[in-house]
Amino acid sequence: MRNKSYSINISNKIGNFNKNIQVDSDKSISIRSFLISAISHNVSTIKNVLESDDVYSAIKCLKELGVKIKKKKSKHYLVYGKGLGSLKAKKNQIINCGNSGTLARLLIGILSTTPEIDIKILGDHSLNKRNMSKLISLMNEFGAEFYPKKNTFPLRMISSAMPVGMNLYKANVSAQLKSAVIFAGLNSFGTTKIEEDAFKSRDHTENMLSKNLNTIKITKGKKKIIEVFGKSILEPVDIKIPADPSSAAFFVALTLLKKNSSLKIKNVGLNPTRIGFYEILKKNGAKIKFKNIKKIDNEIVGDIFVKSSKLKPLKVTKEFYVKSTDEYPIMFVIAGLTPGISTFKGITDLANKESNRIKEMQKLLSQVGIKCISNKNEMKIYGQENLKKIYNSIKVPKLGDHRICMSAAILSLCTGVKVKINSFETVGTSSPSFLKTIKSLGGKFEIK
Ligand code: S3P
Repeated sequence: MRNKSYSINISNKIGNFNKNIQVDSDKSISIRSFLISAISHNVSTIKNVLESDDVYSAIKCLKELGVKIKKKKSKHYLVYGKGLGSLKAKKNQIINCGNSGTLARLLIGILSTTPEIDIKILGDHSLNKRNMSKLISLMNEFGAEFYPKKNTFPLRMISSAMPVGMNLYKANVSAQLKSAVIFAGLNSFGTTKIEEDAFKSRDHTENMLSKNLNTIKITKGKKKIIEVFGKSILEPVDIKIPADPSSAAFFVALTLLKKNSSLKIKNVGLNPTRIGFYEILKKNGAKIKFKNIKKIDNEIVGDIFVKSSKLKPLKVTKEFYVKSTDEYPIMFVIAGLTPGISTFKGITDLANKESNRIKEMQKLLSQVGIKCISNKNEMKIYGQENLKKIYNSIKVPKLGDHRICMSAAILSLCTGVKVKINSFETVGTSSPSFLKTIKSLGGKFEIK
């Protein structure tokens, strides 16, 4: 199912555009819909699914664990759930999560408290390098065991024989870890309690489960408390998935940086825990408007209107990290092309994404003479409007990081600097229609 490897070359600036576009469906919500449907009762219906490699990995893993999933028509799936604890693994079974950290962490959350699971879990080159230590120690608390004693995949996981809910987990930054604990708690005896401080991470898992009043209780305040009452029954999922604000961010960046251009992007998820990128840019002079806002299936959805803008340098404090986690690579490009010094604080976790995004983006920007100074927790970018001619080409190595590939493409389309991006197929994990949309806006590229 995975795409063959290919690279792309871009050598020309994109022209001005004024268009309406649609972007790919939300990846976080798509993966969660399949996972929750698989452990719910009866038939779940998922519409407008993101048909991307990460979501295909989720479907494949679940099928291999005994879940019946049928595609009804394009982007429309039925999942025949058999309830909590119903996933089944064969002896010596191997589960491959591909490039998806979300799938790996959330599925392990489910499997940790599913009876009699003894499997090997692994991923692609990028996922096998990511640190799973926090996940392992959380799942150990539910009684699951991992071998050998290391922090990266491949790992053998043996599920808990007697899972008991976790007393109090202080969720810090990561939505994947929070979701893994919620999922593990669902099939544990007793209550699992999670506390989130002022920086609340994306809450799609909670939103999707919230109709199950006997299963989950959420108390909102300065601190948010999530209580999961284990061993209950989950109602089937019935959802239409909105477009992904993280995929839209690349086209928003392109429009802001390009003169005399505008875009309308329809039906985008505007969950408050996901729109830090838009808030930061609006604060710094971006002409971005959200219109036609409505609530669909417990998620806020609306249209994004964006116009070319003269931006101020970005000062991004640590409070923004959780709600713009995936947008740092493209924000670094915006900062690099905005005159003045931009600063990004509280970004330590970017080192454990599909690649080390602090280091890799610094390497990319320095190839075109944009000075960046970084340490573990901070990045300073010295932006300039016009790049010096001597720096006239960029190479992006094979990293297995979709967001770095798309950021490099936007940088090249805005500046005309030649770029060769290797292993561009990785963009298919989140944004399979990226190149088609670039083409519809008049962007030119060559596939090799
Ligand atoms: C995700 C959470 C974020 C994000 C990732 C998707 C999710 O990761 O970067 O792309 O779907 O829960 P962390 O949980 O590591 O912050």
